[in-house]
Amino acid sequence: MTTTSLPGFRDFYPADLALRAHIFRTWRAVASRYGFVEYDGPPLESLDLYTRKSGEEIVGQLYGFTDQGGREVALRPEMTPTFARMVAARAGGLPKPIKWFSVPQLFRYERPQKGRLREHFQLNLDIVGETSVASDVEVVAAAVDMLREFGLGAADFVARYSDRGLISAVLQEMGIPEASLPAAFAALDKADRESEEWVIERLVDARIEPDSARRVLDLTGMDLGDLSRQFGDVAAVGECLVRLNRFREQIEAAGLEDFVELDLRLVRGLAYYTGLVFEIWDRKGKFRAICGGGRYDDLLEAVGGPALPALGFGMGDVVLGELLRDRDLVPEGGHELDDFVIHVSDEQLPAALHIVHSLRARGRRVGFDYRSRSVGRQFKVANQAGAARVIVVGPEEVERDECMVRSMDTGEEVKMGLAELLAGSD
Ligand code: HAM
Repeated sequence: MTTTSLPGFRDFYPADLALRAHIFRTWRAVASRYGFVEYDGPPLESLDLYTRKSGEEIVGQLYGFTDQGGREVALRPEMTPTFARMVAARAGGLPKPIKWFSVPQLFRYERPQKGRLREHFQLNLDIVGETSVASDVEVVAAAVDMLREFGLGAADFVARYSDRGLISAVLQEMGIPEASLPAAFAALDKADRESEEWVIERLVDARIEPDSARRVLDLTGMDLGDLSRQFGDVAAVGECLVRLNRFREQIEAAGLEDFVELDLRLVRGLAYYTGLVFEIWDRKGKFRAICGGGRYDDLLEAVGGPALPALGFGMGDVVLGELLRDRDLVPEGGHELDDFVIHVSDEQLPAALHIVHSLRARGRRVGFDYRSRSVGRQFKVANQAGAARVIVVGPEEVERDECMVRSMDTGEEVKMGLAELLAGSD
């Protein structure tokens, strides 16, 4: 037997869970501020939900197995296919736009390293039924505001965005067949980490001619000016450029220009994106991506639903937790107990229990010593348990229907009548 968890899986001791709870609370608060409602789905899905549309990288990382009924199943590596499946099943009856969020635990068999584990929690926030630029802006703004709510600022992080529709249009204009696009995006997604030779090999694997592969790679060095000069009169490219301009104007109108930057090298690895794509990174480049998302206008139809446009993002708890620790933005734990009731000897235990349960009935968090140890010892236990207030009950106090109340923050002590204690407002 071993006391360690599996590689890449975390134990959440109370202090770790406190940070996780802080992250979840903040995500939920900001999501509802933007008018999103929470949903959830099953952690285990049919394997083909992922093999059909997620893309090779994620499929290679699946925790998949055959269940006892002979079904090929997998632990969810991401939430988007489940979300698309759930929406597709009821799309007709749901008012649009659908604005939902969820905080699922996800499983990917990755090589565990800083910022990457084999399980993580991921806020997913998505909109269905909107093609407007305003909805693109809304999703990016929500992701930015999530991070601002934790106390992070424009010096800490940046949201980089691009448009896969634009890059697709350019690639198709260059003669790249549509069927090769997902593999081309997967290769370009790695261009900042891998050598040029590696990227070109992957592009050639995706049945792109070596000459064209070099031109595709050159795209990663172009800016918007280069693209509009070379491809601006291709209709599909022109439309994307207009959309990107509107996006920029609305980001500025929302006051978010310090947080959001265009970066045409960004394409994202997942296969289903069709338009806007974005990722949030820490400015110093010390951590992996905090958040990633984009528009996936064809996925609902691909999982058997109606053709409805959709977009959203996933923000993981692992990198975010690392960043918050790095910037000293983990809130200090407050008091874990409101009161700790000390009884001086065993004889006062019934009186102490009466106080403990009366206070708990009023909603206060109350502890006491199960073993009637010395008063000094009980004070120590109260302190370790994080009590804000200690209530001491001895023989004289029981006699007079009162108790001694001590604030653990200030050390101030007062005598208080029992009736007043049990009726008190704090
Ligand atoms: P993703 O880029 O694969 O997107 O994941 C989003 C975020 O989840 C990443 O930026 C990262 O913070 C976190 N993450 C991913 N894998 C791991 C891991 N192994 N360990 C720790 N954190 C991780 C998606 O999953 C898309 N389904 C997001 C989406 C929603 N797109 C549209 N809607």
